[in-house]
This record gives sequence, structure tokens and C-alpha cells, in this order.
Amino acid sequence: MFEQKLTDQSLLKSKGLINGEWVSADAHKTFDVFNPANGECIATVADLGAAETKRAIEAANVAMTDWNTRTVKEKSALLRQWFDLVMANQEDLATIMTLEQGKVLAESKGEVAYGASYIEWFAEEAKRIYGDILPSTTQDRRSMVIKQPIGVVGAITPWNFPNAMITRKIAPALAAGCSVVLKPAAETPLSALALAELAQRAGIPKGMINVIPSKQSSEIGEQLTGHPLVKKLTFTGSTRVGKILMAQTAQTVKRTSMELGGNAPVLVFDDADIDKAVQGALMAKFRNAGQTCICANRILVHSNIYEEFVRRLTEKVEHFVLGDGLADSSTMGPLITRHAAEGVAELVADALAKGAQLTIGGALNKGTGFFFQPTVIRDLDQTMRLAKEEVFGPVAPIFKFETEDEAIAMANDTEFGLAAYVFTKDQSRSWRVSERLEYGMVGVNETAISSEMIPFGGVKESGQGREGSKYGLDDYLEMKYVCLGDI
Ligand code: SIN
Repeated sequence: MFEQKLTDQSLLKSKGLINGEWVSADAHKTFDVFNPANGECIATVADLGAAETKRAIEAANVAMTDWNTRTVKEKSALLRQWFDLVMANQEDLATIMTLEQGKVLAESKGEVAYGASYIEWFAEEAKRIYGDILPSTTQDRRSMVIKQPIGVVGAITPWNFPNAMITRKIAPALAAGCSVVLKPAAETPLSALALAELAQRAGIPKGMINVIPSKQSSEIGEQLTGHPLVKKLTFTGSTRVGKILMAQTAQTVKRTSMELGGNAPVLVFDDADIDKAVQGALMAKFRNAGQTCICANRILVHSNIYEEFVRRLTEKVEHFVLGDGLADSSTMGPLITRHAAEGVAELVADALAKGAQLTIGGALNKGTGFFFQPTVIRDLDQTMRLAKEEVFGPVAPIFKFETEDEAIAMANDTEFGLAAYVFTKDQSRSWRVSERLEYGMVGVNETAISSEMIPFGGVKESGQGREGSKYGLDDYLEMKYVCLGDI
């Protein structure tokens, strides 16, 4: 039944990929993948373990040597070929994504294009890995810096963007000369396996991309963080898990890139264009049913425009149609699991018990599927869990502020520091506030801030390292100083 929805059914893989071979688990274990729109099992996938991960790391290490005998132009052309194949298969990849992740088809297609843009970008950046000649302290020496691949990369990716979070790690790794062992989220392994199949078809050599589908997260994590051949770990996921992985990598002093949790504020000043602010908050809040790390988590609105903003946002939210992401009528899909939907309900219940008010939504949908109603909740304060915790669901909590200083203090009152958004027409205020916000990314009068050309990443407990942009290769390169004497 799943296969009938795809033009190219051979994109649907159910085994792991090690050294160019599709493999079952040594112990013949499998796990099920579910459609969050109806709870039905849509695939059964090999559940690989520590031994298979070790073999993948060893294969990746060998593959890297061969990869780096190629010219950058050859590497670039292979990445470009992968990009072309991903785009040629956009419909099928989007269908697979909607079935395993739940997001509506239009969003899945958008994510496939977004994910592909990282491959295209890093295919080009592969040609721009420059060194440096430095001034020398003596006449008989020359000092230089060369950049070299860091080594085998372990990558652990989340379920909320089953395609783009993978390409934005693998593409720069390959461009820099590194091979990858990927552990995709157990909820969404099919998108990862389809991407790997297309990489194989593109001619990316065996062993450069290895995929370990698995439910045994700790065992795989221990291999990727502890194996001496892995030189770098890149992770997108929760701050809690990121801290565990960072502690484990300390044993072998690996480089890490961590894209962790967010608690993004949207600051709406009373000099803002309210139409733009409402639309921006709507987009930032409800993308992927509220399941992104840069989703608007706290909407802070000046008291002079609070009532109008709440009314207008609520009117817009009324138009969402919850449903199966493959149905044309749906504009918002389910959450990833029942557990996730129940967690969102608990956060809303906590706020309501402490005096907040709903203007729309607020409940789990009855019936099959893990749907939570698009929700707007007002009159929040700092005692409520919604002020501190990442919601990861379609709930827009609206707080009130009086002064610029108060808004900035509220925005910064969190251990997270990924993305923040500001709406104001005052140029000086936009500079002042952007500079004082303790975040890795700030959108002024704009919430659609992501692209392959910008450095995506956070500060504080939202992580370290940047993905995308001209800076995105640095995380996969070592800098080596070479001193030439006796000149
Ligand atoms: C994320 O949620 O971490 C990714 C969002 C994006 O790339 O826009």
C-alpha cells in the first residue's frame, strides 16, 4: 500500500547501509515505523546494533582515503549529481516524509528542496577550501596554514526534519573530505535510507555514507562517541541528550557540533507593522505543527497592542485544517507520537491552572492520529512551564510587556539561545535589541530565517557550531600550521 504511493518504489529501503551494502541486523532484529496521522505501521526496518556501527566506522575510515585522492572538482560533481537526483525524486521523498513524519505534503516538498539546497551549496563550497600564508618572524622561514578533513564523522539526526538535518551534515562533511556514519531518528529512518540510496545512484563511493537505522540509541551513541576512529560528532536534538553525548565524546576529545533545544521569543513592539508581526508569528509558530527548534515559543507583545495582536492571531489560527498530511485539504499534520501530544497538553494544562486563558484550541483531537489543536493562549507569566520549556507543538503562548528593557530581559531569561525574532519599524531599536538578545540567530521583521546560505546555530545551552553558509565547512576541517625552514 505504501509502495503504491511512490513512482519509484525502490526508494523504499528497510535495511542499513554499510560500505555500500544494504544489510540486516546481525541479530535479525527489526523495528516498526508508524504513520503519526493514524498510528498504523507503515514499514519494518532493520534494527542495527553496536557491532554493525563499529563495522560502518571502520569502512568509513577506509573510504575516506580513497575519496581524498579525488580532485575537489570530482567530489563537487558527485555532490551535484546527488542534488540533481534528490530534486528529480522530490515527490517520492516528500511522500515518504509525510507518511513517516506527518507534516503536510507541501511542507515535505519544501523540506526536500531545502535539504537539497545544502547539497548544492556544499558541492560548490568544496572548491573553496582555502589555506593561508602568514607573516614570518625570520627571513629563512615561511609559515602557512592548510585545512584538512577532520576524519570520520558520526552524525545523529532528529525526526522533525528527516531530510534537511541529514543533508546539512553529510554534504559539508563530504565536501570537506570526511566520511559519515549516520544514525537517523528511529521514528523517521525511511527518508534517511532513501537519501542514501540516491547518494549511491549518484556515484558517491561506498563507505562514504553509512546509515545505521536503530532503536538502540544509547548503544549506537556510545560507539559514535567512543570509537577512536570517529573524530567528530554532529548532533541535532534535545539539550538533555546533547549534554550526555558531549560528556561521552570528552573521553576521546572529539570535536562536536551541537544543534540543541530552543525557546525562541518573538518581541512585538508597539511601533511594529501588526500585519507583518501576526503573519511572522504565525509562520514561526505553526511550521511543522510547532515541531522545530526555531519555532516561536514565547510571543512577547507590548501592552498597547496586546488585545489587537491576540485577536488577529486567533482569527488566523481558526483557518488551519488539521488532518492527514497527504490529504489536499490539510494545512497542519499530527505530532510525531501520542506521548509528544500528551506532553503538549500537560504544558497547556499547567498554564490554565495558573490563570492563563485559551482563545482557541487547547486540546488533543479525539480519534486516531496524534493531533493537537492549533492553540492560542494568553495572559501568560514567568511562573508557567510555557515560559521556560520548549513546547514542540502548535501552541502560541502570548505574554505582555511594557518596556524595551523588560522585553529583552524576558527574552533572555532562559538557558536557551538559538533563534529570536523582533518586530519593530524603528531602525535604532532593531539594532539595539538585536545586539542585546543572547541568541545565535535574530530575525528582524522576518521569521523565515533559514537557508543554506546562513550560519544556523545557537549559543548558551542551544549548542555550538554552525551549519550552512561559508562557515559551515569549518566544523569539518582541521587547521594545520606548516613551518618551512631553511629557505
Ligand atoms: C530545526 O528545527 O532545528 C531546523 C529548523 C530549520 O532548519 O529551519
